[in-house]
Amino acid sequence: MSTSTADTTPTPAAANTSKRGVSGRASAVVGLQWGDEGKGKLVDLLARDADAVVRYNGGANAGHSVVVKGERYALHLLPSSVLHKNTHAIIGNGVVIDPFKLIEEIDGLANRNVKIENLRISDRAHLVLPYHKLEDAALENRLAGSQGAIGTTKRGIGPAYADKARRTTAMRVDDLRSDDRIREAVHRIAPIKTDMLRGIDPTSEAIDPERLTAVLISAAQRLRPLMSDTTFLLHNMLRTGKHILFEGANATLLDVDHGTYPFVTSSNCSVLGIPAGTGVPGHMIGPPAGEIVGVAKAYCTRVGAGPFPTELDNEIGNAIRTQGNEFGTTTGRPRRCGWLDLVALKYTVMINGVSALAITLLDVLRNTNGHLGTLRVCTGYDNSAGACTSFPPSAHSLVKCAPCYEELPGFDADITGARSITDLPAEARAYLDCIEQFVGVPIRYVSVGPDREQTIMIGKT
Ligand code: GDP
Ligand code: IMO
Ligand code: MG
Repeated sequence: MSTSTADTTPTPAAANTSKRGVSGRASAVVGLQWGDEGKGKLVDLLARDADAVVRYNGGANAGHSVVVKGERYALHLLPSSVLHKNTHAIIGNGVVIDPFKLIEEIDGLANRNVKIENLRISDRAHLVLPYHKLEDAALENRLAGSQGAIGTTKRGIGPAYADKARRTTAMRVDDLRSDDRIREAVHRIAPIKTDMLRGIDPTSEAIDPERLTAVLISAAQRLRPLMSDTTFLLHNMLRTGKHILFEGANATLLDVDHGTYPFVTSSNCSVLGIPAGTGVPGHMIGPPAGEIVGVAKAYCTRVGAGPFPTELDNEIGNAIRTQGNEFGTTTGRPRRCGWLDLVALKYTVMINGVSALAITLLDVLRNTNGHLGTLRVCTGYDNSAGACTSFPPSAHSLVKCAPCYEELPGFDADITGARSITDLPAEARAYLDCIEQFVGVPIRYVSVGPDREQTIMIGKT
């Protein structure tokens, strides 16, 4: 398939004038905590007003849920817009793509009568291959029980990004364009990766280059029609007045530069990752034409290791986990639960330049069994140096921070049927006001249940 810019012009189905005007604009949905904030739900909701939805970071470590009329879909590599037939789904160069997982995901949706017609994957994106997952698991197993284990999703994300940075042991989507290129790359890299794996776990089996070549050639035959120079595709769309929505995977506190390092993932999950992960410059993204929508739960969760100042390792945390069904979309692991951390939220709003907040899972804070009669939000930390109101730079300093709380009254009513802010009890509204005032950004969306319809839009017609 040619990579000329002419080839990347949007198809006629999506090449109408912009749904809102004549000039292109770009918006983003980004997680403001440690992941699983409900980004998938927000992206699906906003995708109806977008010509393209674009993943720019991470890989199959993400698990984004979309629920429509009770039907649940879990997306890992595919953008969360796949239920919108006319919206282009684009996987940008910053994503690390497991080709076998991607095909499995496409086929899984096809079995449910969801046909993906407008999918394009960047030829610059890097591949996650089976040995990356082995390396991820081997390293985690070796570190198990020590302070070094991260509790990764074992989807091979760290090793794939490490190979990208090393260059000599990396493979990109573009390498799948010919069988000869696949064969050459696999035979060159496999023996090196075997040695590296055995450096971590001496009992590791040797990678069989013949077998890997064969399965990659067959995956490549499926993926070749989808490969594209997505950088030109996106710029052409912006030039012709389209609205592009970037979908963040993972979340800002897991960002490799700005999160709680080293207990983070290996990509720039914040909006700062969009330019590098798609080729669209930062000044084209967000206000005034678009929005940066920051998504935060009404409380906090975290999967895997790392400091979590407001964690509730008690019956209140258990109540939140049960009511919120807080088990991982990708790994099924129970999520650690705790009170909303406004210090962390203010920091991630700042990092992303958030222009609109989406507060999700508010319904989960309903006081059904006496544990949530009083709600708490963290408005500062105490550490050995005294009080602090700014988010510390590393996990080592965050672990020394004890939360200072403000208390607010809880609410007893079932709010899952609320569709307007006035449908909410006064206590729930006061809770939202407290968030808005502390972080200084308007709340535009309040989610009161997993379904697309269970959303309050504020200031939207
Ligand atoms: P993502 O990774 O940010 O897309 O979030 P996940 O899909 O991993 O996790 C969010 C979970 O909460 C999913 O099971 C959603 O279906 C669910 N969810 C999203 N919004 C709401 C909400 O407002 N209320 C409730 N009860 N569940 C929600
Ligand atoms: P979504 O997009 C929650 C966490 C892992 C682990 C750390 C590193 O669904 O919000 P990795 O496999 O990336 O090397 O793991 O990051 N993590 C997530 N936690 N939601 C996610 O994605 C996550 N992606 C990575 O649990 O602690
Ligand atoms: Mg998730």
